[in-house]
Amino acid sequence: MDRNRPIAVIGSGTMGNGIAQVLAQSKFPVTLIDVAPEILDRAKASIDKSLERLVKKGALPADEKQTIIGRVKFTTKLEEVRDAQMVIEAIIEDAAVKKDLFGRLDALMPPGAILASNTSSISITELGAATKRADRVIGMHFMNPVPVMQLIEIIRGLATSDATLSETVALAKELQKTPVAVQDYPGFVANRILLPMINEAVYCLMENLASPEDIDTVMKLGMNHPMGPLALADLIGLDICLNVLNVLYDGLGDPKYSPCPLLVKMVKAGYLGRKTKRGFYDYNA
Ligand code: CAA
Ligand code: NAD
Repeated sequence: MDRNRPIAVIGSGTMGNGIAQVLAQSKFPVTLIDVAPEILDRAKASIDKSLERLVKKGALPADEKQTIIGRVKFTTKLEEVRDAQMVIEAIIEDAAVKKDLFGRLDALMPPGAILASNTSSISITELGAATKRADRVIGMHFMNPVPVMQLIEIIRGLATSDATLSETVALAKELQKTPVAVQDYPGFVANRILLPMINEAVYCLMENLASPEDIDTVMKLGMNHPMGPLALADLIGLDICLNVLNVLYDGLGDPKYSPCPLLVKMVKAGYLGRKTKRGFYDYNA
């Protein structure tokens, strides 16, 4: 990838601001796009806070922080993708909304530009079919929190070309991450394995087997997981967890993937985890 041409990131929420940060840290100009200025202000504050952690540890010179943030252009105008060599989409996990966006990006972006999605579970083949450049459409699935997690799952749709795959793998390496290429089936590998575990933890809570803290402690101390499944669900976002389970259930047709009723109820209540300050835990304190 060319460090003189921007990479656009669409959606500046939990994932989008982290993706913009790691691109800017690797010296790429970034165009970060969301629907409202106040959302972009929050994204800028998150990037600032994340870089400040590095400054405090002595891992980043203090004057570098502003240089990195200065590489990011924050905008609500989708047309700003026009000069980008690649887009990484990180909007809500909804197939219809993503397909509509991919159609618009295809019309706006230069020929040959790569359209990548950070989707957790939605078919890359389906997103590709919403464009006239399915060979340039690919999954680039970063993990949360993006600046910390080493893995990027790279998902190849049915029509994704070898060149698109190798350019995306090369970009992941330039970001100092470890890419793993997988085929396009619901939930790919990461969430095919992770989400059934989280769902089962929610069943344990619904059936009153133990408190949220105790369920998480079992998995932290018993299996050496860095955080328990309920705390992890709060970090991911309960809406994202529910959408991924629905994709697994619809796509694989096995009732073992059907979302736990308590998870459905939490999302209906608007308890989405850390981003709404309430999920299985309360983050208001
Ligand atoms: N931004 C930047 N740095 C961060 C950060 C953030 N948001 N959060 C934590 N860090 C850094 C800290 O500065 C610290 O760095 P050093 O070790 O170099 O000092 C390090 O990460 C550890 O942080 P803490 O000591 O504050 O906290 P911790 O030890 O509890 O670690 C954690 C936090 C990294 C989140 C850890 O608990 C963890 O790895 N949890 C599991 C995360 C996980 O499984 N992610 C995948 C989610 S699934 C997904 O992403 C896919 C999907 O589609 C849903
Ligand atoms: P989020 O809800 O935190 O952020 C989504 C952002 O997209 C919001 O700021 C919203 O305003 C914006 N948005 C919605 N529609 C838009 C549009 N048409 N144009 C521009 N911006 C738009 O969500 P998130 O957790 O960052 O997830 C984003 C994507 O990344 C999803 O596909 C999700 O499945 C995937 N993902 C999430 C995680 C996770 O742990 N949260 C991990 C890996 C991948």
